[in-house]
Amino acid sequence: MPQNLDALRLALQHSPDNAPLLMLFAEGCLDEGLLEEAEQSFQRVLKEDPAHAEARLGLARVALLNGKTSQAAVRAEQIISDTPTCAAAYLLLARIHITEGDLPKAKAMYDKGVALNSSLADPGIEKDLHSVKPAAGDSDTSGRKRGAMTSSGSFIESVQEDSADDDGHPRGGAAFDLGVADFGKPQLNFSGVGGMEALKEEIRMKIIYPLQHAELFKAYDKKVGGGVLLYGPPGVGKTLISKATAGEIKANFIALGLHQILDMWIGGSEKNMHEVFELARQNAPSILFFDEIDALAADRRDLRQSAGRNLINAFLTEMDGSESSNDGVLIIGATNAPWHIDPAFRRPGRFDRTLFVPPPDEAGRAAIIEVMAQKKPIGELDPRALAKKTEGFSGADLKAVFDIAVEDVMNEVMRTGKVIPLTTKDLIKAAGRHKATTKAWFESAKNYAMYSNQSGFYDDVLKHLGLMKR
Ligand SMILES: Nc1ncnc2c1ncn2[C@@H]1O[C@H](COP(=O)(O)OP(=O)(O)OP(=O)(O)O)[C@@H](O)[C@H]1O
Ligand SMILES: [Mg+2]
Repeated sequence: MPQNLDALRLALQHSPDNAPLLMLFAEGCLDEGLLEEAEQSFQRVLKEDPAHAEARLGLARVALLNGKTSQAAVRAEQIISDTPTCAAAYLLLARIHITEGDLPKAKAMYDKGVALNSSLADPGIEKDLHSVKPAAGDSDTSGRKRGAMTSSGSFIESVQEDSADDDGHPRGGAAFDLGVADFGKPQLNFSGVGGMEALKEEIRMKIIYPLQHAELFKAYDKKVGGGVLLYGPPGVGKTLISKATAGEIKANFIALGLHQILDMWIGGSEKNMHEVFELARQNAPSILFFDEIDALAADRRDLRQSAGRNLINAFLTEMDGSESSNDGVLIIGATNAPWHIDPAFRRPGRFDRTLFVPPPDEAGRAAIIEVMAQKKPIGELDPRALAKKTEGFSGADLKAVFDIAVEDVMNEVMRTGKVIPLTTKDLIKAAGRHKATTKAWFESAKNYAMYSNQSGFYDDVLKHLGLMKR
């Protein structure tokens, strides 16, 4: 998010040694590529406080952006040796190693950073760690260094220590060894999710009712469980509603994010996939959630022929439940790119039910705004008025609006040292400076919906766009 650099510059004229202000300004400069100014500001902070970890990290980032990778690495390593819990420094080191082409090291650093602070998970880095893999057969350095790839790109039985128990049997307690992102019975239920009334109702009918009345379905020899694919624009709450669904029925929620899927992929540890499913079976009724499922289910031939093929096969075998029964295990996959999902994943018994998660309507936005406002100092708030001005905004967009509004009052707050409550006016002003992210998504989705709407897969998108009768 670009800072208002001019305002910050002005504020700095009044208080040139104000460290928080200098940091904000330096970050803004970094965002804008003003490396020299950023460097000077970080140095000014360090003059007053030589141990300031973020400023030291800032200098390391400047070095990396200037192409001075070894200087950047030295700086980042020094920060880690002084502050071993500085997650951001590990992530920066991961970046540096990626730049140097050393993927195993990059991954090790990335894992450490995310283990320390999972909110720093960075899809950009994950993509970089990921994107080199298909070329594993010829040029992937990580493959060579691990000695796990053959020259044709196929995997030799995993050489990595994986997290299975010695006897190879899964144990419930091994969940976090398996690297699952989330495991347990969530506190969150539908009341903690703003709006989404139609979707909640659909989930009640298609997911909750069958799970709660398994005996009715059994009478007709119909299996309960299977897979549901949630798709929709980014930030509309797909992850949130999945977790809340588990909370709603007091089922266990076991989540794997992009990071964990890529981990298995990179490690060639398809055995872990079996153990994740076993964990879900042992803890049934459970929801096994795969976030960004397109990472696994992508319809890209090159990937399917590479190391990932075994993992995909392992996943489909588990999902089919041909070897073990998936009774009471519901598998939810979420994606922003349903058009990249291999049709094999949508066969009966797999992700055979699909739910579109639309951006919130006006009432939905008002409900989300109310939920978000609870955590902020608010003077007076008219959620409806803000909802009216935020057409097309996702939940994540609304969160961004709050962030922008907070940034705006921060200058004033730092000058006066007083807490200034946010008002509806501040928020509406902030909304004017944020572009709804769902519009771009609908532009792509519309093309797929109009030209490759096999079996009515995208009917809900067309209805949402008013291109089909409801
Ligand atoms: N209905 C909602 N009520 C409250 N908060 C919401 C709602 N929808 C989204 N949010 C907030 O917006 C953020 C993004 O939500 P979430 O991660 O669930 O979206 P997503 O659809 O999974 O996004 P992505 O496609 O990027 O994975 C979260 O921080 C969440 O708290
Ligand atoms: Mg998500």
